[in-house]
Amino acid sequence: MKAYPGLFISFEGTEGSGKSTQMRLLVNRLRSEGLTVTENQEPGATRIGKQIRRILLDPVHHEMASMTELLLMFASRTQAANEIIIPALTRGEIVVSDRFTDSTLAYQGEARGLGFETVLAAHRLALGSLAPDLTICLTIDLEKGLARADSRNQWSGDDANEARIDLQSLNFHRRVSEGYRKIAQLEPRRFRFVDGEGDRDMIAERVWTEVSQFVPARSQTK
Ligand code: TMP
Repeated sequence: MKAYPGLFISFEGTEGSGKSTQMRLLVNRLRSEGLTVTENQEPGATRIGKQIRRILLDPVHHEMASMTELLLMFASRTQAANEIIIPALTRGEIVVSDRFTDSTLAYQGEARGLGFETVLAAHRLALGSLAPDLTICLTIDLEKGLARADSRNQWSGDDANEARIDLQSLNFHRRVSEGYRKIAQLEPRRFRFVDGEGDRDMIAERVWTEVSQFVPARSQTK
C-alpha cells in the first residue's frame, strides 16, 4: 500500500554522470505530457538546505567527520521532505529528486565506510519509510565523469566552492560505484541502472523507457 498518491522518482550517479541534465530533460517531458512535477535537489533545495549544502561542500571544511557529513545530509533531506517532497506527494504530484538516501548509502555508507545499517538507521529516524518509487542511476566511466565534474568546477565560480566531496580520490569514487551496485542488488525493482554514455537525447530515451512504465498507472495529475 502506497503512503502517498503521488509518484516519487530520484536520480543518482557518480560525479559528472549527467544526472542533472537528464533530470531536467525528464522534468520537461513529464510537464509536456501535462503532468505536475515538483523538483528537489539534495543537499539543498530549501532555504535551510542551501546553507547546509554550503557547509557540506566547502573544500575548506577538510576536517569534517564522516558522521557529521551523514547527519548534515539527513538534516537537509528532512527539511526538504517536510517543505517539498511530502506536500507534493500528498497532492498527487510527481516529485523528481536530484539524489536522495541512495547517495548517502553510496557516499557515506560505502565510500566513507559508515556502513549501510548506520545510514538506514538515520533514515528511519529522520524520514520513516519515505522512499522513491523509482530510482534512475546513470552509469558513466568514472574517470570521464570526474574530468567532466572537474572542468565544471573550474569554469563555474559557485561550483568551485562545492567540490569537497568530488575532490576525493579515484578509489573513493570507485567505492561510491560499489555502493550503488550493492543497492541495485538489494532493490532491483526500484533501483535501475541506465547507461549514461552517448548522445544526450538517446540517454533521455533510455530514462523514459524506465519512467514511462510508472507514469500512467501511478499519477493522478493528468
Ligand atoms: P551534486 O554534485 O550531485 O549536487 O551532489 C553534491 C555532492 O554531495 C556530491 O559530491 C555527492 C555528495 N552527496 C553525498 O556525499 N551524500 C549525499 O547524501 C548526497 C545527497 C550528496
